[in-house]
Amino acid sequence: MSTYDASFRIWRGDAEGGELRDFTVEVNDGEVVLDIVHRLQATQTPDLAVRWNCKAGKCGSCSAEINGRPRLMCMTRMSTFERSETITVTPLRAFPVVRDLVTDVSFNYAKAREVPAFVPPRGVAPGAYRMQQVDVDRSQEFRKCIECFLCQDTCHVVRDHEENKTAFAGPRFLMRVAELDMHPLDAAEEAGLDRKRTAQEEHGLGYCNITKCCTEVCPEGIKITDNALIPLKERAVDRKYDPLVWLGSKIRRRADT
Ligand code: SF4
Ligand code: SF4
Ligand code: FES
Repeated sequence: MSTYDASFRIWRGDAEGGELRDFTVEVNDGEVVLDIVHRLQATQTPDLAVRWNCKAGKCGSCSAEINGRPRLMCMTRMSTFERSETITVTPLRAFPVVRDLVTDVSFNYAKAREVPAFVPPRGVAPGAYRMQQVDVDRSQEFRKCIECFLCQDTCHVVRDHEENKTAFAGPRFLMRVAELDMHPLDAAEEAGLDRKRTAQEEHGLGYCNITKCCTEVCPEGIKITDNALIPLKERAVDRKYDPLVWLGSKIRRRADT
């Protein structure tokens, strides 16, 4: 087993302010950045705050910025860096710092609550739901989300523009709206809820200019932009500008009542 000393630069501070501090710390074969942060806690900085749970890329807790890129600390192998490189670890930039590497991600939970839940179809008992495999597969991709909020952190709409946060749900929750809007059994429309309209007017779909930065950082490899945001934009535009689509939806709703 080979061992070497790596240079780390870690942000330390709290909501009042802070600074980058330099550390030299031992690295062993096969380790990830989270191992090094734990070694720092054990040997040099026992009060270094870091959030983590699974160390397996599944809980979404250990999100941070490593050399300026939003990443999971537990899934970032030390072998991807040059041994001579200084590795900088900072808290997620889009959310307020609590302490050191821990941020307050409650913005995301607030946005999650703003998306109305799946509306069950009338007259079909749970267990009797039937869907085509293609629809199941589409939902399954979105449901791989581990809620690490790396996509939310990287999206430029909120990353440098705190003022946009009230009007923009962010890629993770626009993806949720898209999932529900494309769900063949969701009966929101019959219940008077137009998910396409609310995507535009309440969740800020129009702010997204499909740069795909969110997709690039997703540790689950979900094609957020191509498979959720662009289809949702297309569906919303159809609804807004196509009079036949609009008329059809009105007639369908009246026929159902
Ligand atoms: S594609 Fe849209 S949601 Fe994703 S990072 Fe770009 S602007 Fe943000
Ligand atoms: S969509 Fe991907 S990047 Fe965004 S919260 Fe889910 S797992 Fe994380
Ligand atoms: S500790 Fe769970 S995703 Fe990293």
